[in-house]
Amino acid sequence: MVRLLTRLPLLVTAAAACLHPREEAGLPTEGIRIRRDAAEATVPIGTGDRWANGTVPRGLGTQPAGTKVTSIMTPEEVRSAIDALADEFDFEVGETPNETHEGATMFYAKVGGAGCDASYRTFLTANIHARERGAADNLVYFISDLLWAEREGTGVVFGGKHYSMADVKKALGTGIVFMPMLNPDGVAYDQAEDNCWRRNRNPDAPVDLNRNFDYLWDYKAKFADRISEFVASDDPNIEVYVGTSAFSEPETRNVKWVLDENPSIEWSFDIHSYAGLIIYSWGEDFNQFTDPDMDFRNSAYDDRRGIKIEEPGEHYSAYRAKDLWQSDSFVAQRVANAMAGATQHLRIPITAIQGILMAPTMGSLSDYVSSRGVSDPSSPDTHGLTLEFGQSGPIEDCPFYYDEEDFNFNIQGVGAGLMEFLLGAADDGLAEVNCNSHDDDSDSDSDSDDDVDDDD
Ligand SMILES: *[C@@H]1O[C@H](CO)[C@@H](O)[C@H](O)[C@H]1NC(C)=O
Ligand SMILES: *[C@@H]1O[C@H](CO)[C@@H](O)[C@H](O)[C@H]1NC(C)=O
Ligand SMILES: [Zn+2]
Repeated sequence: MVRLLTRLPLLVTAAAACLHPREEAGLPTEGIRIRRDAAEATVPIGTGDRWANGTVPRGLGTQPAGTKVTSIMTPEEVRSAIDALADEFDFEVGETPNETHEGATMFYAKVGGAGCDASYRTFLTANIHARERGAADNLVYFISDLLWAEREGTGVVFGGKHYSMADVKKALGTGIVFMPMLNPDGVAYDQAEDNCWRRNRNPDAPVDLNRNFDYLWDYKAKFADRISEFVASDDPNIEVYVGTSAFSEPETRNVKWVLDENPSIEWSFDIHSYAGLIIYSWGEDFNQFTDPDMDFRNSAYDDRRGIKIEEPGEHYSAYRAKDLWQSDSFVAQRVANAMAGATQHLRIPITAIQGILMAPTMGSLSDYVSSRGVSDPSSPDTHGLTLEFGQSGPIEDCPFYYDEEDFNFNIQGVGAGLMEFLLGAADDGLAEVNCNSHDDDSDSDSDSDDDVDDDD
C-alpha cells in the first residue's frame, strides 16, 4: 500500500493536521472501533432534539462563567439549532441543491450584514471531516452568542478574552454566511459507530472532501513527480482519497454553489481539529510575491510544485500578492493570539503558519477559496483560512474525540478565534457596501432569493 508522509520525515514538521497517528504512520485505520468504555470517557452524543421544544441555543460567551455544554449535537440537531435561532432572530436559512449520498439535505444561513447580498463578505464552515467532534457545535454556539449579545446589548466573553458590544456589531457587520455541517453523512456514521470516520459516505469509495475542491486537484500532473504520492491519493483505501474528479461529491458541489451564490465573500474560515494551528494559503509550496507568473495556474511549473527541499533546477514558489499574503498572515496571527488569550489551560501553543509548512496539499476548501479571487477577474480578492482547534483528546485510538472539559474549552477557544477572524477581516478592509444605492454590485445573481426559505 502507499505509505503516506512517513517516507519523508524531513518534509513533515508539525503533526499533519487532521490525520490520525496511524495514518501518519502509513497504517490503515479501517475497522477502528473505539471501545464502548473508552468512548464513554468522551462527551456524549446528544439524544433527542434539545431545540425542538422552543429552546434556543445559547453559547458560552453570553452565559455565566462555569456554564457547561454536556453533549454534542447530531447533524439533525445542528439543523434544528439553526432553525431555532432563525425563528428567534429572524434570519435566512437556505438549502443547497445536491442531496448527499445518503439523502441528507445540506443548508446554509446568513446573519448580520446590511440587508443586501453584497454585504455578505465572510464565510464560516465546519465538520468537513466527520470525526472532528465539536467543530459544528463550536460554530453554532458562536453564532448564537453574537445574536444574543446583539439583542441584549452586551459583549461576549470567551475565557480570558472579552469583546465589547461594538466588537459584536462589527463582527456581524461583516455579513456572515455559514455552513456548520459540511459532511452530515460522515458525522452521522462517526457518531453511530465511534469509528473515527473522516471522509464522506460515497458508496463507491468514500472521499476526503477536503481534497475534492478544484485547486490543483489533478495532483499527479500538478506536483513534482517525486512528491505527488505524498500530497494526496487516488487509492480509495487511503484517507486522503481525492475522488474521481474535482467536485465529484455533492458536499463539495454544495459549498461551491453557496460561494457562487454569494460572490461578495472575501474571507472564509474552515474549522477542523486537532493541531493548534491557523493555516493560510498556499498549501502547494512556499509563497513568493515577486513573480506573478509563477503560480498554481502556470503549467510550466507542473514538474516542480510541492518540493520543500529543492535541488538545482527545481525552484518553484507560489505567487501570493504581497498585500494579500500580509493580510492572510496578519489575520491568522491575530486569531492565534486571541485563542491563546482565551484559554487558561493550553497544552500546546496555537501557531499561525502557511499551509506548505505542514505538508504540500491540494484540493482543500481554503486554498480553493483563496484561488477564486485569483482565477476569476470578477471576484474580489479572497482569503481562505483553516482553523485546527484543540489538541489530542483522551482516546489514543481516536484523538479527535474530546472529554467534556476539552469540548467546553474548545467552544470558548474557537469562539475567540472566530470573533478575532471576523474583526481581523473587517480591519483588513472589506469592500464598502451601500445597500441603498441603486447601482450597487449586489446582484450578480438576483434570483438567489428564490432558492432559499426566508424565515421572515
Ligand atoms: C425544553 O427542554 C429542555 C431540556 O429538556 C428544558 O430545559 C427546557 O426548559 C424546555 N423548554 C421549554 C420551553 O419547554
Ligand atoms: C446539483 O446541483 C446543481 C445546481 O443546481 C444541478 O445542476 C445538478 O444537476 C445537481 N446534481 C445532482 C446530482 O443532483
Ligand atoms: Zn480536518
